[in-house]
Amino acid sequence: NRNIKIAPSILSADFANFGAEIQAIEAQGCDWVHVDVMDGHFVPNITFGPATCAAIRPHIKTVMDVHLMIAPVDPYIDAFAQSGADIITAHVEAGPHIHRTLQAIRGAGCKAGLALNPATPAETTKHLLDMVDLICVMTVNPGFGGQKFIRSQIDKIRDLRAMIGDRPIHIEIDGGVTPETAPLVAEAGADVLVAGSGVFKGGSVDDPAPYGANITAI
Ligand code: DX5
Ligand code: ZN
Repeated sequence: NRNIKIAPSILSADFANFGAEIQAIEAQGCDWVHVDVMDGHFVPNITFGPATCAAIRPHIKTVMDVHLMIAPVDPYIDAFAQSGADIITAHVEAGPHIHRTLQAIRGAGCKAGLALNPATPAETTKHLLDMVDLICVMTVNPGFGGQKFIRSQIDKIRDLRAMIGDRPIHIEIDGGVTPETAPLVAEAGADVLVAGSGVFKGGSVDDPAPYGANITAI
């Protein structure tokens, strides 16, 4: 399916060589670059913040898709917007005021994404559909790359696709995407696939895996 976008996650890239890693995945035809921001509080891992996003932004020719796994979110929205994020995604579980957060993301000039942990039902998005450009379905528990795809999320993708109707909202899948699981989520209605370990295979600049070729076969 040609309408599927691929967003490699640089969480699995070589952190000392982001520029070269981004160049490699864009040369393979990726659509977006997915940036996983973790705070050691909302999720049990720490990655990087707005300064790193700003540093890698000039290396990205496509779209910088920033996935915030942090709580609270609101104090940092302007910093990530100023770092050059095109899309900022926040978790519905990150605080009591996701409606305000989504308003603030659009107010900062970015596209707004809403991420759902595996236990969070599709229905939580019902009153937010006019405020989002993207819904991110976590198909692993957020925090680490290389985890196993959670199959029960396929029904959630179907539910979301039905709820969205003809609204211009992307359904992004994040976690455990491989050549085996990608067709399942695409068939259920996903149109953006994040892939970390499936793309970078240990983070070698010299050996970028030819994942793009697998993905275009979907
Ligand atoms: C998980 C991150 C994902 C992660 C996916 O918390 O949000 O973006 O990098 O990695 P893989 O594709 O290895 O499951
Ligand atoms: Zn992510």
